[in-house]
Amino acid sequence: MTDAVSLAVDLGRGLRLRTPVLVASGTFGYGFDAPAADRASLGAIITKGTTPQARPGNDPVRIAEVPSGMLNAIGLQNPGADHVVREYAPLWKTWDVPVIVNVAGDSIDDYATVARRLDGVPGIAGLELNISCPNVANGLQFGVDAQLAAQVTDAVRQASSLPLIVKLTPNVTDIVAIGRAVQSAGADAVSAVNTFVGMAIDVRRRRPILSRGSGGLSGPAIKPLALYAVWQLAEQLSIPVIAIGGIMTADDALEFLLAGAAAVQLGTVNYLRPQAAREVVEGIAGYIEQRGYTRLSQLSLRPAKVMAGV
Ligand SMILES: Cc1cc2nc3c(=O)[nH]c(=O)nc-3n(C[C@H](O)[C@H](O)[C@H](O)COP(=O)(O)O)c2cc1C
Repeated sequence: MTDAVSLAVDLGRGLRLRTPVLVASGTFGYGFDAPAADRASLGAIITKGTTPQARPGNDPVRIAEVPSGMLNAIGLQNPGADHVVREYAPLWKTWDVPVIVNVAGDSIDDYATVARRLDGVPGIAGLELNISCPNVANGLQFGVDAQLAAQVTDAVRQASSLPLIVKLTPNVTDIVAIGRAVQSAGADAVSAVNTFVGMAIDVRRRRPILSRGSGGLSGPAIKPLALYAVWQLAEQLSIPVIAIGGIMTADDALEFLLAGAAAVQLGTVNYLRPQAAREVVEGIAGYIEQRGYTRLSQLSLRPAKVMAGV
């Protein structure tokens, strides 16, 4: 990448990333397993979903491979917000890549509690609200109801001054309605999409493969579905849209950037090719350079948008 090409992206409230390629929640842990070299190309790391108290997650089997993707029902296994603040944040503070904590919970109070606990902690660059986890009891309720989605966004907005990304579920009839609701409630950006609810059955044992029966489908299988969701959101919202869903290559990422996404997250591919983020960043830079562009924002097929309020 030459200096003439800028891949920097501004996600609002001072969250400026040097590249538009992030790693998606639940597929990169808390960042500690990745070599520094791989972290260097990332715009940001999004952590595993974090709840007020530690959680053990679901019983096995929690992951199943399916054609063109995978199903997971991890169930929010995480060490809890206090542990994240005490043990992880001081180390993140020494890294040169921002770390955004993915927040989850069973109630609005859970989300607000975690947000308050993380507010102002050095080493934590932002929050991503998982209002769409399909793998816990009642986990879908906030993400599928525009009013509840707005309420949880508002509660977190009041509890924290950190940049706030709200992650949307695709398991709805009208994703734009939910996007609009969280935008009005104070989200700085949305990320789309989380996994699609699905299942697989073991015909020999005559039972569902996952212990919970259903799980979240991710990987290339969901890319066209995610792309259409992002296309619609980018057209209708004035805040940045961060695209997620089946991105395996630079061309996949470019499709989402052309659709109007401000940035992309890589998920399932991290299990297959940990170096994928680096390749995707290089591919995007090469594409921009070849076309004689200098900035990422020139990629979008969408006309330049006037930001919020206009
Ligand atoms: C094993 C696994 C665990 C995940 N855990 C979380 C999570 O804790 N919070 C969250 O918001 N999304 C979680 N996700 C969803 C991903 O962040 C991403 O939205 C989804 O996998 C789609 O992207 P992909 O097709 O690139 O994997 C998880 C996905 C996988 C595969």
